[in-house]
Amino acid sequence: MTVRAVVLAAGKGTRMKSARAKVFHELCGRPMLWWVLRALREARIEEIVVVAAPEMGEELQAFSGVKAVVQQKQLGTGHALRVALEAMEPKNEATVLVTNGDMPLVTPEVFLSVLQARGSGSMSLVTVRTGTDSNFGRVVRHGDRVERIVEVRDATSDELEIEESNAGIYAIDEAKARKAVAQLRSENAQREFYLTDTVELLAGAGERVYPLLYREGGDLLGINDRVELAQARSRMNARLCAQYMRRGVTIIDPALTYLEPELEIGRDTVLYPNTSIGRLSRIGEGCAIGPNARLSNARIGDRAEVRESVILDSTIGDDVHIGPFAHVRGDSVLASEVRIGNFVELKNAQLAQGAKAAHLSYIGDASVGEEANIGAGTITCNFDGKRKNRTKIGKRAMIGSNSSLVAPVEIGDDALTGAGSVVTKNVGDGERVAGNPARPLPKKRS
Ligand code: UD1
Ligand code: MG
Repeated sequence: MTVRAVVLAAGKGTRMKSARAKVFHELCGRPMLWWVLRALREARIEEIVVVAAPEMGEELQAFSGVKAVVQQKQLGTGHALRVALEAMEPKNEATVLVTNGDMPLVTPEVFLSVLQARGSGSMSLVTVRTGTDSNFGRVVRHGDRVERIVEVRDATSDELEIEESNAGIYAIDEAKARKAVAQLRSENAQREFYLTDTVELLAGAGERVYPLLYREGGDLLGINDRVELAQARSRMNARLCAQYMRRGVTIIDPALTYLEPELEIGRDTVLYPNTSIGRLSRIGEGCAIGPNARLSNARIGDRAEVRESVILDSTIGDDVHIGPFAHVRGDSVLASEVRIGNFVELKNAQLAQGAKAAHLSYIGDASVGEEANIGAGTITCNFDGKRKNRTKIGKRAMIGSNSSLVAPVEIGDDALTGAGSVVTKNVGDGERVAGNPARPLPKKRS
């Protein structure tokens, strides 16, 4: 069976009250539309056409492998399908799988099941058991067939009592779909061409339209406003947490742990509450992350600890301890056994094995040698008003508390700066300096 998917994504999304197109609003780090496309791909549907509004062009480019068709004016879901079909080369034996683009929780199984449910009928659609307060269109049945769908705004009070609603996913014989969308009219409460009216057109012509009923509709939530977006996010996050937990990650409280897809988290790593991990971060085995940690595009080795800290775009080695209250960012690279403590900010800093900065420091555009110790209050003065300059600190160097290292500057291996030094000139290997500006101290008698 040839299946061609059409994703309806051009709607104005008025109820979001947003400058941004509805389907680009994100949950768990990905746009709504991304989730729908992923489910389609997982169902092995290769041809995917997205109906988009003209202003969505640029953002849509991020989605490779889909064909975008522009619906110039948003005249309704039926019009959107028509625009898509007009842009597609007819394949009359094909099935068109149409799905709303605003249901990110949908699973590949739902798509596969609705395709199967069509059987020898002309159309099938996913329906869901809802309460009478639902905003979904109501499904009017005759036995095991659907006769028509009535939108809430067009429904009589009797029709609103119907507890079976339309989820927004349809499998339609392509030739029949082409014929039906051409006949749609917009004489309804919203003055729109409703895709849902194709049901009545087909059923009225003696075609069979089958429902595929889901009793529990949580995965079929259509998002129309930010309240529903938050509900969907919470469900999606629970789903993601469950996946990572099944792979061996301990999550103390999934409701307070914010994850994204496509992360790597090693087994026996523990995620403590109020932690969010995003942008393709990779975390090794046996780590402790959180509480109150934020990781984005972070690569973390094994057995590392990150407590109450923020790690952005940086790489952290094995057995590193970070936090509480550290900020590591801007392509920083920390080798194994580094320790970064309270109120330390690292920006584009490279710290070799065993280096330590335990308290109150800013280390920016700097490299720090093995086992060097950065005293409390040390600042690399990397900005001279025009340029960012680098600081190099040697192996085993001892940087005294409250040192200011005025870059560009180099501190040699085994060198020492006294407390409160303002270092403006390079310090040689083994050399000891102090003062403002820092000057060499007499050599130690050995
Ligand atoms: C639609 C269904 C309703 C169903 C509900 C499920 C219709 C007429 N109604 O209502 O029966 O219960 O979904 O969530 O279809 N779109 C376009 N172009 C347009 C209008 C909409 O591409 O001109 C897209 C939107 O971006 C969205 C989808 O179609 O992804 C559905 O549109 P929306 O306005 O959310 O329809 P609902 O009122 O939710
Ligand atoms: Mg909707």
